[in-house]
Amino acid sequence: MERVILDVDTGLDDAVALFLAAGLDTLHIEALIATNGNVGLEKTLENTLNIAETAGLECHVYKGAEKPLVREPVAAGDFHGKSGLDGPNFPPRQRQTVQEESGIDAMIRLLHTHPGEITIISVGPLTDLALAMQKDSEVVQLAKQIIIMGGSFSAGNVTALAEFNIYADPEAAQVVFSSGAKLVLFPLDCTRQVTLSPSRLEGYHTIKTNSAQVFAACMDTYQANYERQKQGWPQMHDPLCVAYLADPAKVQTEYRKVWVVTDRGPSYGRTVKEETKENDGVHIATSIDIPWFWSLVDSAFAVLP
Ligand code: RIB
Ligand code: CA
Repeated sequence: MERVILDVDTGLDDAVALFLAAGLDTLHIEALIATNGNVGLEKTLENTLNIAETAGLECHVYKGAEKPLVREPVAAGDFHGKSGLDGPNFPPRQRQTVQEESGIDAMIRLLHTHPGEITIISVGPLTDLALAMQKDSEVVQLAKQIIIMGGSFSAGNVTALAEFNIYADPEAAQVVFSSGAKLVLFPLDCTRQVTLSPSRLEGYHTIKTNSAQVFAACMDTYQANYERQKQGWPQMHDPLCVAYLADPAKVQTEYRKVWVVTDRGPSYGRTVKEETKENDGVHIATSIDIPWFWSLVDSAFAVLP
């Protein structure tokens, strides 16, 4: 059983990651931490609570950072809509409420309670991770591994050179990439390869469970926003990080040192990789077994309420 903490800026593809994590019986979700990112923290928290309730998740939900370490906040509403999760309508929640304890403190506490056992999956800006590392330097060694969706070693998606999660808090990303933690990174170069097809989306609409219907409504919005911006079909960025935990052998990686441009200018938030012979690198995902990934998503929605 893989113990996992998910740090999310629930948006539409974060919702897919949450549903996938909820539907995998090999994962035990210790906590969900909502952070500022695609939209502001209040909205990402509301979205995370709603998806957790829909998926029948019992785990606690915490508030993460409400703003980046240094820069002014940026949002990615173009793809996710004003609410960050445009599309589905949710009934009033019966169970899920936000915990009093901060997400940063909860992450640190859980890592000390289960040293070396918890994987952190971070699919939004890396502010929470950076704050936890700055508050308690042991976090780096206590985490079993940290799986991150972020960065690009080709074109960016928020500027010509930068990917959103990194661009939204470059200083935090540099703290994490230089921490020495065991990192697995899913950049756009890998996640852009996995897109939702029209026929597959049609298929999910026929599954009459709340989770599948919410997912399909989310993907309708995601697809419409991609089409409006002439970006093709929706790219499954965040759920690949969860799939990796199910079977790392289905993902090809390369080991490189990664750093982030933190000087203001056209390269601000750009990720750079370089060969390394030291133990200071990151396992960068270069490709994933795409049919296997979708079979995992299908198996999740076969069991979700
Ligand atoms: O660039 C893609 C990433 O930015 C994804 O995590 C998406 O949810 C947005 O946060
Ligand atoms: Ca995200």
